Amino acid sequence: MKKRMRGAVADRISDDGQLELPGGDWPLDRPFRIGDLEVPNRVIQAPLAGIANAPFRLQAQRHGAGLSVSEMVASMGVHHGNARTVEMLRLDPAEQLTGIQLFGAVPEAMAEAARAAEAHGAALIDINMGCPVSKICKTGAGAALLADPVHAAAIVAACVDAVSIPVTVKIRRGLTPTEARPVEVAKHLAGAGAQAITIHPRAAADEYRGTADHRITAELVAALDIPVIASGDITTPRMAYEVLAATGAAAVMVGRGGLGDPWLFGAIASGAPSARPGLPGVIAEIQDFAVQVVALMGERRGVHYLRKFYPWYLVGEHVPQSEVSNLLLIEDFDQVLERLSALAEHVPLATSSSLN
Ligand SMILES: Cc1cc2nc3c(=O)[nH]c(=O)nc-3n(C[C@H](O)[C@H](O)[C@H](O)COP(=O)(O)O)c2cc1C
Repeated sequence: MKKRMRGAVADRISDDGQLELPGGDWPLDRPFRIGDLEVPNRVIQAPLAGIANAPFRLQAQRHGAGLSVSEMVASMGVHHGNARTVEMLRLDPAEQLTGIQLFGAVPEAMAEAARAAEAHGAALIDINMGCPVSKICKTGAGAALLADPVHAAAIVAACVDAVSIPVTVKIRRGLTPTEARPVEVAKHLAGAGAQAITIHPRAAADEYRGTADHRITAELVAALDIPVIASGDITTPRMAYEVLAATGAAAVMVGRGGLGDPWLFGAIASGAPSARPGLPGVIAEIQDFAVQVVALMGERRGVHYLRKFYPWYLVGEHVPQSEVSNLLLIEDFDQVLERLSALAEHVPLATSSSLN
């Protein structure tokens, strides 16, 4: 972080250690560049497999994310013309800045998928080198690439050659804590033309255990002359502020914290208190999102996709668990919308047996 920005950070923390959150001179509200791409602020919605589809990304952007990243897309699926995979490349015309994240281990297939993503309007290509899931790592993709920086760099170089938009890479600390060499890996990737590196500083073997060690993020910032984006455990404006200040990262990426709380993107981007409304407003937000999801995915897939969101939105809203559970049993989308409206008006829901 530039000295000027460090001063601004210090000014926001009062004597009792409380972070004051006025608007104005808030460092996360400033634009930054990834290659030729100007990102309007320093809050990025994380790629989330099975979650970060177009309606989710639009919602994050509407609430203040400066850039969204798609769920990871299989380059081999694009290569084979798999309809579901190709559908994942499609952006909504209302999306502002969306990067498409690709995974794979074959440079030619990654280059082909990068070209397809660019043709669909991606603002950048992000390459997944952090996924710890064994099904992905077994194919040599995701976090497995951290063990072979030369091959990882060849994938980056192939994508950079294939497109004119920026190519970025998202990495973890390493495969295991003891084998980790994130600075060496990141230098290879930057040398091959990556224009930003996002780091989630946990080892793949640790999955989501422990805490993200952003001292590693700071090491990357010191070693690289491209932007570094910090991902991991950033769930409040204060944490975003502190991670930026402590590491010098160019931006923060928000994943789990934004699930059921899209207002978090705006709070982090602006430094203003969260605009999360009361229960009726939260429910209106879910309903808007749900309508877009069903328009994209169709009723059956959409209704199932939406189920994971109800607990995320409604926990903490004093909605009884039984009522959240009832929502998970409904197959008919109109009934979902009706039940949500009833919840907003504090009407007790019917028992599950009457929903079938
Ligand atoms: C459900 C879920 C799906 C994820 N999918 C992806 C993915 O497709 N690509 C990726 O690079 N990271 C993925 N991640 C990792 C996140 O992008 C992020 O780096 C990680 O969750 C740490 O950030 P957080 O603490 O803000 O959630 C996923 C994480 C979760 C919880």
